[in-house]
Amino acid sequence: MKLIVAIIRPEKLNEVLEALFRAEVRGLTISAAQGHGGETEQVETYRGMTVKMELSPKIRLDIGVSDHFVEPTVHAILSAARTGEVGDGKIFVLPVERVYRIRTGERDEAAVTPVA
Ligand SMILES: Nc1ncnc2c1ncn2[C@@H]1O[C@H](COP(=O)(O)OP(=O)(O)OP(=O)(O)O)[C@@H](O)[C@H]1O
Ligand SMILES: [Mg+2]
Repeated sequence: MKLIVAIIRPEKLNEVLEALFRAEVRGLTISAAQGHGGETEQVETYRGMTVKMELSPKIRLDIGVSDHFVEPTVHAILSAARTGEVGDGKIFVLPVERVYRIRTGERDEAAVTPVA
């Protein structure tokens, strides 16, 4: 099992959700986030030069999947979230130790996929 964490442009959220639905990905969490992707702006201060870290609004998706769903999920996000301009975002794939479905007490593979 893996946790896919994707940081995307807010304006790409609908396209990404449609692509995930087509890839039969069910079960995800969406959060509003503020991010910084490395772009820096030099700012003058009275003590000399300093660097300002610009933050921009982003959407964070957290998607727990079984291993065979990793590639379709990543592919759906890559194709739907890309504009080709800097700032398109990132996808992280993290190992997951355990998953529990609270209602049933099911665990791991039985718990990660929502009941249809
Ligand atoms: N190393 C990182 N760790 C955590 N979040 C990150 C990281 N890099 C980028 N992000 C998140 O992704 C958002 C978009 O990042 P961004 O697309 O600028 O990444 P990038 O690697 O700089 O790619 P690009 O070259 O296209 O700008 C950031 O605002 C931030 O929320
Ligand atoms: Mg960047």
